[in-house]
Amino acid sequence: MKIKTNATALEIELIDLANLFGQHDEIEIEHEESKNSTILQDKFVVKNNNSGLEKTYQYSYQLDESLSELEQKSLRKKMLKNHLYQTLNKELKMSLPWGSLTGIRPTKLVRDMIEKGQIKEYLVAEALEKMFFVSTAKAKLVANILKNQKCIIRNDNLIDLYINIPICPTRCIYCSFISHKISALGQEKVEEYLDCLEKELSAVKQIIADKAYIVRTMYIGGGTPSVLTTSQLERLLKMLTFSVDEFTVECGRADTITEEKLDILKKYGVTRISINPQTFCQATLKRIGRQVSTTQVLQAYSMALEKGFVVNMDMIAGLPQEKFATFKKSMATLLELYPHNITIHTLSLKRAADLKWQQELVSDKDVEKMVDYSYKLLSENGYKPYYLYRQKNQLKGLENVGYFRDEHVCIFNIDSMEETNTVIGIGAGAMSKRVFNIERRIERQHNNKFIEDYCQNIDKIIDEKKKFYK
Ligand SMILES: C[S@@+](CC[C@H](N)C(=O)[O-])C[C@H]1O[C@@H](n2cnc3c(N)ncnc32)[C@H](O)[C@@H]1O
Ligand code: SF4
Repeated sequence: MKIKTNATALEIELIDLANLFGQHDEIEIEHEESKNSTILQDKFVVKNNNSGLEKTYQYSYQLDESLSELEQKSLRKKMLKNHLYQTLNKELKMSLPWGSLTGIRPTKLVRDMIEKGQIKEYLVAEALEKMFFVSTAKAKLVANILKNQKCIIRNDNLIDLYINIPICPTRCIYCSFISHKISALGQEKVEEYLDCLEKELSAVKQIIADKAYIVRTMYIGGGTPSVLTTSQLERLLKMLTFSVDEFTVECGRADTITEEKLDILKKYGVTRISINPQTFCQATLKRIGRQVSTTQVLQAYSMALEKGFVVNMDMIAGLPQEKFATFKKSMATLLELYPHNITIHTLSLKRAADLKWQQELVSDKDVEKMVDYSYKLLSENGYKPYYLYRQKNQLKGLENVGYFRDEHVCIFNIDSMEETNTVIGIGAGAMSKRVFNIERRIERQHNNKFIEDYCQNIDKIIDEKKKFYK
C-alpha cells in the first residue's frame, strides 16, 4: 500500500481501511479533493496490481451551510470511507467485521450519537449495520456492551488517577509500548524515577484539593509495575493516600509476583490486579519472548485469590504460529481458573515487527474464528462484555473486548475507554485528560515518554500540569 509522504489524515484513514482488505494486496489509492463554491468533490483511483483493477470514482456533495466546518469535514470523511468500503467490498468480494469503521471506539461513537439524539438506544445495532456496514454480530456486541456500562457517571468533579510505570522484566516481541527493560534502566534510575513521581504527585494533590476533585479510582499501569521491589512498591503506594473503592495494579508478568509484594498491595488498599497469561501454550510464550511459565501464572493466581484480590487476565488471539486448537485449549484453562475479568485482545501487528515474525502469522480466517469463539464461550459461561476498543493494525481489523462476571467491572477501564471522566496521568508516558461534560469537549496532555526525559523535565511537567488543570 502506497502512502504519499504528504498524505493528509483523511488519506491515511482511507489507506488504513483499504489495508484491512488484505495486508499483502497491492492496492493503491490516489485521492484528490476540491471545493467549487458550495460543491465538494472527491475523486479516488483504486488500483490493484494483483487483480488488474484500476477504477476511478468521483463523488460530489452539496455543502450543507447549516453545519459547522468540523461537522462538514466529519460527514465528508464518513461518506468517503463508506464509498471506499463499498467499492472494495464489491471488487474484492470481501466484507469486514467492522465495515467502514476504523480508528474509533465504536461504543463511544454510538453513545455520542444517542446523546445527541441522532439514534435511539434500542436501534444501536441496526444503525451500525446500516450506516457503517458493521456485521450483525459486532453490531449486537456493541449494543450489548452499552447495556453493561451502567456505572458511567458524567460528572466533571469525579476523576480517575493513573500512574505509569513503564518498566518490564524483558520485552515481548509484539509489544509497541514504550517500556524500559529493568536490567538496562538500573536500580538507581528506578529510585530517581520514584523521586520524580513523588514530586509530580504532590503537585497533583494540590490540584485535586484546589479543584475539589473526588478521586473515584486509581490505576497503576505500565509496563509491569510489579517489577518494582517490595520496598519500592511500598514507597509508591504510601504516596497514594486517596481512599477509593477501586484500586488496580497491573502485575501482568507472573514472574514478578511474590507473596510479599501481594501483601504490600493488600496493606495499601489495592483491590484488583492483572495477571496476564496471553496464552497457556508454553511454546508460544517462548516464541513471543515472554519468559514466564504457565506454572508461575497458576501459582501467582492462586496466591492472589487467597489474598482476596479481584483478578483480570489478558489473552491475545492470533499469536504467531498458534492454531485455533491451541487458542481453544488456552481458553479452556482460562475458564477453569474462572477469573473475575478477562480481556481478549486481537494481535496488533506493529510496523517494527520483524519479517520472520510476520510470516508466522495466523490467517485472518483463524483469528476471526478465535475471537468469535471467545465471545461465545465466555457468554455461555456467565461473562458479559463491558468495554471494547480497536487499535491500528489489528488482524482483520478486529477488536479487544473486556468481560466481567458477577459485579466485577473495572470502572477505570470504562471511564478511560469511553472518555467520560477526567483522568490525571502521572509519570513517564502518562496521558492526562480533562473532560468537559457539558460542552462535550476533551483536552489532552502528555508527559515525556522516556523515564530519562521525564526526570530531566519534571519541573516543567509540573508547571504545565498546573496550567492544564487551572
Ligand atoms: C498495556 S499492556 C500491559 C500489560 C502487561 N505489561 C503485560 O504485558 O502483561 C495490556 C495488554 O495489551 C495486550 N497487548 C500488548 N501488545 C499487544 C499487541 N501488539 N497486540 C495485541 N495485544 C497486545 C496484552 O494482552 C497486554 O496484556
Ligand atoms: S510485559 Fe507488557 S508492557 Fe512489558 S514488554 Fe511485555 S507486553 Fe510490553
